[in-house]
Amino acid sequence: MVPRPFRIQRVRKETADTFTLDLIAGDEGVMSPFAPGQFNMLYVFGVGEVPISISSDPEDCSTVRHTTRAVGTVTNALQGLKKGDTIGIRGPFGSGWPVEEARGRDCVIVTGGIGLAPLRPALYALLAHRESYRKIVLLYGARSPEDILFRQELERWRSKLDLDVYVTVDRASVDWRGTVGVVPTLVRRAGFDAPNATAMVCGPEVMMRFTVRELESRGVEASQIYLSMERNMKCAIGLCGHCQFGPTFICKDGPVFRFDRIAPILGKAEV
Ligand SMILES: Cc1cc2nc3c(=O)[nH]c(=O)nc-3n(C[C@H](O)[C@H](O)[C@H](O)COP(=O)(O)OP(=O)(O)OC[C@H]3O[C@@H](n4cnc5c(N)ncnc54)[C@H](O)[C@@H]3O)c2cc1C
Ligand code: FES
Repeated sequence: MVPRPFRIQRVRKETADTFTLDLIAGDEGVMSPFAPGQFNMLYVFGVGEVPISISSDPEDCSTVRHTTRAVGTVTNALQGLKKGDTIGIRGPFGSGWPVEEARGRDCVIVTGGIGLAPLRPALYALLAHRESYRKIVLLYGARSPEDILFRQELERWRSKLDLDVYVTVDRASVDWRGTVGVVPTLVRRAGFDAPNATAMVCGPEVMMRFTVRELESRGVEASQIYLSMERNMKCAIGLCGHCQFGPTFICKDGPVFRFDRIAPILGKAEV
């Protein structure tokens, strides 16, 4: 429960309301290894603590990276920090994306908005062992072209011949030449072998519900669809009950769940 001090090495503005912090251990201890999909609790001293997924490469533990959208008290305080400032970190916590289980299969990554950040480590892991997977498809939706995250990296990924990248926006600007529409509609257009595909989905819950519907109607099995759930958290270790849904704790049993196991609570704010 005790946070470790981490120093901000770099602040990168991603969009108007989203930023990435690169952090290094301030106590000279070793960086904790993490699985793609896990999260840390970030503590802004005197303000509060929030769960934020790790958005960096799991095979590079020299820095840990978090990409955050400023929506309220703590995330706005995080946005106000600068290089050299210190925050507290507890973690990593929770379950990860099924990158090992998906070996030998097609992988379909479907993300909306800030959901690309928790899935970026999974993409790094898939690409680092590219030969172990069949087709890899990334479907990403943003509110507008200005809200697209990790632009340069998306362009790099787009230029790769062994990765299919589709990007859509809800609202286009005059110079947008790409697809307009919500991200679940991309599931219909993308080429992948549905009965042999594993899907990893992260975004607003309404987007995830419609995405699951599209994936299932294409023939992806419910047991091969994984979602990352977000609920209010305090302790992150299954003690306080803030994130509890009956027997399920989002913090320690999740945040990444198999769809067929989490379906009953999808869309419910509390049980
Ligand atoms: C496992 C997990 C991983 C997460 N990973 C990330 C991540 O990688 N990047 C990231 O930006 N966020 C992530 N979040 C969401 C993040 O934790 C919340 O946005 C944060 O706790 C909000 O705290 P706050 O003090 O800034 O806002 P508060 O002051 O608590 O809330 C202010 C207002 O924002 C609204 N609000 C709260 N949470 C959200 C939200 N998630 N989206 C939209 N509005 C919200 C509230 O309803 C309220 O109206 C994650 C959440 C969980 C549970
Ligand atoms: S956040 Fe305390 S039990 Fe999950």
